Amino acid sequence: MKVLLTGGIGYIGSHTLVELLDSGYNVIVIDNFYNSKPDVIDKVKEITNKDFKFYEGNICDKKILEKIFNENNIEAVIHFAGYKAVGESVKEPLKYYRNNLDSTLTLLEVMKKHNCKKLVFSSSATVYGKPESLPIKENFHLSTTNPYGTTKLIIEGILQDLYKSDPTWAIAILRYFNPIGAHSSGLIGENPNDVPNNLMPYILKVASGEYPCLSIFGDDYETHDGTGVRDYIHVVDLAKGHVKAIEFIENNIGIDAYNLGTGIGYSVLDLVKTFEQVTGVPVNYKIVERRPGDIDACYADASYALEKLNWHVEKTLEDMCRDSYNYLKHN
Ligand code: WQD
Repeated sequence: MKVLLTGGIGYIGSHTLVELLDSGYNVIVIDNFYNSKPDVIDKVKEITNKDFKFYEGNICDKKILEKIFNENNIEAVIHFAGYKAVGESVKEPLKYYRNNLDSTLTLLEVMKKHNCKKLVFSSSATVYGKPESLPIKENFHLSTTNPYGTTKLIIEGILQDLYKSDPTWAIAILRYFNPIGAHSSGLIGENPNDVPNNLMPYILKVASGEYPCLSIFGDDYETHDGTGVRDYIHVVDLAKGHVKAIEFIENNIGIDAYNLGTGIGYSVLDLVKTFEQVTGVPVNYKIVERRPGDIDACYADASYALEKLNWHVEKTLEDMCRDSYNYLKHN
């Protein structure tokens, strides 16, 4: 099957590209390098020894999408492209609503026109807001606390309405928890273009000596050690979840959402200590005040993805730390 990846050179996109190529899929990629680097293209080809067609461009541009669909018989799309920094979205909401919604609507219009009705959408556990209980199930109440999360929630609603209008679509909404780690080759990984917002990229900057100290945002949460608890998932496990979702929508129309998490919550201090044990590299840290908008704890009930997609994680927190550090050493 011929699959188009939007944002396919980014962190999660590139790891999914590797897994799709390794599984024998014919893949086309569009990316504008807003949050990715061109050298990832050759690194993916080196890892997989496979080729793929690449288009540089912004999917808000209907012309380039029409070109891609006219030049290739696209049968399914995995939609990664979008802005994803929570803090930035609070400062610049219009930029986030314009980009994330405009690009998605343009993509869906072109897909519809070309009768391509199979879609995997990159959503986020952020649509659950502060969960009423744990672990989080797909049927929990959805609410968001920042514009980035709201764009994801709005797009999920657009997809539900699209399916209601035409129940021949096959749509898998994947709600990511906290992706970290890197491909075991060390050739691709998370390499944010600016100061990291997320925990693991920041730990790596401290481990490399680029930053002197990690600030831990609060140790007075209702968790086992007071620091925030999250469901960290290896990016390769997450990528394999996308392959399973593509396999599912290849043969099943309908729309559904799936949690892609491990079902295990680890605290900030758990992650720091595991990273130090696995790598032997100390991570200096200090406890500072809470980050506005952070919740105490968040982790998935991943049983539905196992039941429907036959997907489950294989990697441990130690693997995530080892592979993250291996990527740092290679880059
Ligand atoms: C994890 C924990 C922080 C940085 C975000 C988005 C979510 C998704 C994943 C896209 C928290 C603590 C962090 C630091 C710290 N992204 N922390 N010091 O906030 O759970 O989720 O990324 O879909 O939408 O909201 O991830 O890595 O920022 O924070 O103490 O320098 O680490 O307080 O407890 P988060 P995170």
